Amino acid sequence: MTQQLWDDVDTYISDLVVGPDKALDDALTASDAAGLPQIAVAPNQGKMLNLFVRMIGARRILEIGTLAGYSTIWLARALPEGGRLVTLEADPRHAEVATANIAAAGLADKVEVRVGKALDTLSTLAGDDPFDLYFIDADKVNNPHYFRWAVDHSRPGTLIVVDNVVRDGKVADADNTDPAVLGTRELGELLANEPRVSATMVQTVGSKGYDGFALALVVG
Ligand code: SAH
Ligand code: DHB
Ligand code: MG
Repeated sequence: MTQQLWDDVDTYISDLVVGPDKALDDALTASDAAGLPQIAVAPNQGKMLNLFVRMIGARRILEIGTLAGYSTIWLARALPEGGRLVTLEADPRHAEVATANIAAAGLADKVEVRVGKALDTLSTLAGDDPFDLYFIDADKVNNPHYFRWAVDHSRPGTLIVVDNVVRDGKVADADNTDPAVLGTRELGELLANEPRVSATMVQTVGSKGYDGFALALVVG
């Protein structure tokens, strides 16, 4: 079981169920050209996010961690007429690339990129209506904070998705002292003990390596 095999299967899956897609392919090309890291979700994972939006009929989405807007485009495309997505990005250069990619995808009217550290920009959203779906994919050390904020600004039925919760299996190592791993393990405790959510974590392998998603449905 190797990375090569995971790549081959991801290519097989993405060729089957995603195929070429100009806006998304151009977004990745622009991301690479600008020297941004290749850490966007894989195409089949992006499609999964798109399906989540449609499954719950989300109209308001908050994404934390925009990068070049690849996952943003997948999520925003699934929004109905009048739907909105706010995406938070700390790095102005990333935000600039993302804003251009989102506009080129024809989604500028639905998406707002807010620049700044999410710990700061979240507070500017506090008075807004609750969100229907969160995609948390920024600095992992702050995942407990982002998750708590999300639960506090949700309604029953809100879905919270957190990326990169497995990180090559490090999450299961209680002796790991990497702040990102500690943040993820603290998130795990919250998922388990927060009575307002019902949650799970799922391991994934693929073109982005060995990692996983957390899913939490707000139930009360
Ligand atoms: N969701 C994107 C990938 C995001 S990568 C996709 O799948 O296409 C993580 C992003 O989070 C990076 O662009 C990084 O600059 C941003 N980030 C890191 N720390 C942050 C913070 N404190 N606040 C907001 N964004 C942050
Ligand atoms: C990293 C961040 C991500 O959101 C991701 O999907 C993969 C890697 C990182 O910071 O290394
Ligand atoms: Mg990620």
